[in-house]
Amino acid sequence: MKNEMAIAEKSLDNTVAAREFDVERIRADFPVLHQSVNGQPLVYLDNGASSQVPQIVIDRGSTYLEEEHSNIHRGVHYLSQKATTAYEGAREKVKRFINARDAKECIFVRGATEGINLVMHGYGRKFISAGDEIIISAMEHHANIVPGQMLCEEKGARLRVIPMNDAGELLLDAYDALLNERTKFVAVTHVSNALGSINPVREIIERAHKYGVPVLLDGAQSVPHMPIDVQALDCDFFAFSGHKIYAPTGSGIVYGKAELLETMNPFQGGGDMIKSVTFEKTTYADLPHKMEAGTPAIASQIGLGAALDYLNTIDREAAAAHEAELLRYATERLSAIEGVRIIGTAREKASVLSFVIDDIHPHDIGTILDQQGIAIRAGHHCAQPVMQRFNIPATARASFAFYNTKAEVDVLASTIEKVIEIFS
Ligand SMILES: Cc1ncc(COP(=O)(O)O)c(C=O)c1O
Repeated sequence: MKNEMAIAEKSLDNTVAAREFDVERIRADFPVLHQSVNGQPLVYLDNGASSQVPQIVIDRGSTYLEEEHSNIHRGVHYLSQKATTAYEGAREKVKRFINARDAKECIFVRGATEGINLVMHGYGRKFISAGDEIIISAMEHHANIVPGQMLCEEKGARLRVIPMNDAGELLLDAYDALLNERTKFVAVTHVSNALGSINPVREIIERAHKYGVPVLLDGAQSVPHMPIDVQALDCDFFAFSGHKIYAPTGSGIVYGKAELLETMNPFQGGGDMIKSVTFEKTTYADLPHKMEAGTPAIASQIGLGAALDYLNTIDREAAAAHEAELLRYATERLSAIEGVRIIGTAREKASVLSFVIDDIHPHDIGTILDQQGIAIRAGHHCAQPVMQRFNIPATARASFAFYNTKAEVDVLASTIEKVIEIFS
């Protein structure tokens, strides 16, 4: 018995050790964080827009530019082969990171926007026709509204919208009522950038599949905060941007099940995506190249691979627990300030905190915070229908990464108090 207790204690110790998260050590990896802005230490809370890049990713980019820079795939020479190996190596890393069955299911794109457009073009234009319906949700980023809307306009199809409650939670009964034999596609965000809500995407996918309908997940805001397993989710498409997960801009992925990607039209035509070209007919390359026309963002995608290597070196479970604690603490601190109202109070939330203050425009909040070195985002967050749903023009949004600290939350809260004082 004593022995069992000792073992239990030891395993508890291990769990606690695994959960300890040395935020100062992590911060040391991100050079940009260590600077003053307007005479104050930078407090970077705009990670939902773009997260910062660790030194290892910066170094990988420099190595590529200094030692490997060359065009990929078509070259027989040394540098081209090195660049190709690094680029295709990054694709393998992505495959492992999201647990795709095959690297050919991971298409390099400039970001989530391009990934969603690729699917709406390649799948939508081929398989959606007049009278069909596409379902999205009330909390989509414009990147997941406008491409579907353009497709509907072109084809005479109809866009249907899953509504949400006042907390920012999707109403699944209403979703059930929207699904029918006319539904041909579902595209929803995994995590809302404007509200932080984590959507019940497994249920959404399961219910769509009962109708044989494929589902695209916009993973731009989920990949930074949680492990992604596209096979376990059983999503048909999954798009995300590298610049929100510690990689350079211009990097990103749209995953698609191979059997769907195979049937789709290429997104763009050009070099690298063909098997043969004559003036009479072109035949397309195999996946993934069929979907990647022209010279891609080689350095950025290699940087994405390096960012995934970096993420694999940290305890992501502990990082997620740290982010959850930051969100809890920030919610508590801001809710305690008179006049502050949190927008987005779903039970399941990622570390995104949107708020408004009585009679103070979010742009004024953002500007005054910036004068104190605090970077947040103010505006409609490319989610104007969310603003309309909550009857507000805009919100201020603090979004946390695992390198943020409670001390930074304190600075945010006390500066918001000052903003209120200034306007009172
Ligand atoms: C939920 C969501 N989807 C899509 C996008 C578009 O990402 P990108 O501009 O990197 O293509 C964003 C960007 O903020 C987002 O938050």
